[in-house]
Amino acid sequence: MKQIKVGIIGFGTVGAGVADILLKNGDVISSRAGVELVLARIADLDITTDRGVKVPAGVLTTDADALIDEVDVVVELIGGKTVAKDFILKALNKGKMVVTANKALLAEYGKELFAAAEANNADIYYEASVGGGIPVIKALREGLAANHINSIYGILNGTCNYILTRMEQEGADFAPILADAQKLGYAEAEPSLDVDGFDTAHKAAILASLAYGEWFGLGPVYVEGIRNISQQDLAYADELGYRIKLLAIIKQTDGDVQVRVHPTLVPKSALLGNINGVFNGVFMEGDFLGPSLFYGRGAGREATASAVVADLVDVGLNLACGSVHRVPAFRAGKLYKNVLPISEIRSRYYLRLAVRDESGVLASIAEELSRRNISISSLIQHEVAAEDGTVPVIILTHITQEARIVDAISAIEQLPEVVGEVRRLRIEDI
Ligand code: HSE
Repeated sequence: MKQIKVGIIGFGTVGAGVADILLKNGDVISSRAGVELVLARIADLDITTDRGVKVPAGVLTTDADALIDEVDVVVELIGGKTVAKDFILKALNKGKMVVTANKALLAEYGKELFAAAEANNADIYYEASVGGGIPVIKALREGLAANHINSIYGILNGTCNYILTRMEQEGADFAPILADAQKLGYAEAEPSLDVDGFDTAHKAAILASLAYGEWFGLGPVYVEGIRNISQQDLAYADELGYRIKLLAIIKQTDGDVQVRVHPTLVPKSALLGNINGVFNGVFMEGDFLGPSLFYGRGAGREATASAVVADLVDVGLNLACGSVHRVPAFRAGKLYKNVLPISEIRSRYYLRLAVRDESGVLASIAEELSRRNISISSLIQHEVAAEDGTVPVIILTHITQEARIVDAISAIEQLPEVVGEVRRLRIEDI
């Protein structure tokens, strides 16, 4: 059986997971790839710490440059956007196949990296970059190839989903749950990439590019994270039949595309509304297929390594029959007119206001909404006054344009009976 030499740069959590799978499942991997994927080299600056994987003697090295020369396929698992980019470009320029899980790098430099792959008759595989172990890239690139993609809704960040799930289930606020998640290892010490929505935005940019045929990068992606979600919002959402999820929303309407990441009210009855904890879910709708849902572990050593090894099997299949570019890293061909700015999207909205409990307050608020043609679909006011004597009012609207709701909110905030800012969230009736 032909041998393909695999080199891993980065012997961290996922790198160790990939080595473990290659060593333990070599038989099944070879039978599927039609070649033997040999773990030839692993490079890392630290090759002494025990990662719990028994690597054959002579495999570990600190010399990543030499590794690139010695192997057929380079697996980049160091992350970040500097050294990782240099190693990937170096590998591609030498005609080596590349497998990476680096969503941040792809989102920002995808065009440049794919051009280098093309120029060198090489390929980049990146299944592990979105949804961890869920084969969502392959589904979009190959399985749904017959379809125009109407929409993709993704819960793509396990950390955020874990935090929101616990906040909802425990009736707790963001800060203590984040602190506990950090203690338990579910959130990073520096949590911004996850909780401010950037990690989801990287993944949204990749999915949008595959769906609509142009490498978007982060430019057109609107991003809001989950820091401002309060326990009150989750409780009112629950009362109204919704859960709050950090969603990547990628969809086309009348040929225009929108790519946005923000906390969203999702019906409790929707499949995505029931994806809890660290799990990821991606709901895609093709014009002929209709809806389909992908669910699974979006992070973690085994799941992510499983996706990396699946890419290695694809590389093996391609190298075995000399068919590089059979499935190119990215097939360009613009399938949309414009990217809608956030001000032009249309959505339903959830508004939470604190108002003085006086006559005419609701009429004034309703007047500002109706003046902008915004129709109310539901309204709650409980007889429970806050310490400052205000009562919360929750309003759900029918579909309207973002610019209109923004305008209405600033008018409502000027009303003398309305105290403080109006909290606004978007609703998707998936
Ligand atoms: N930090 C991500 C998550 C996994 O929490 O889902 C890597 O993208």
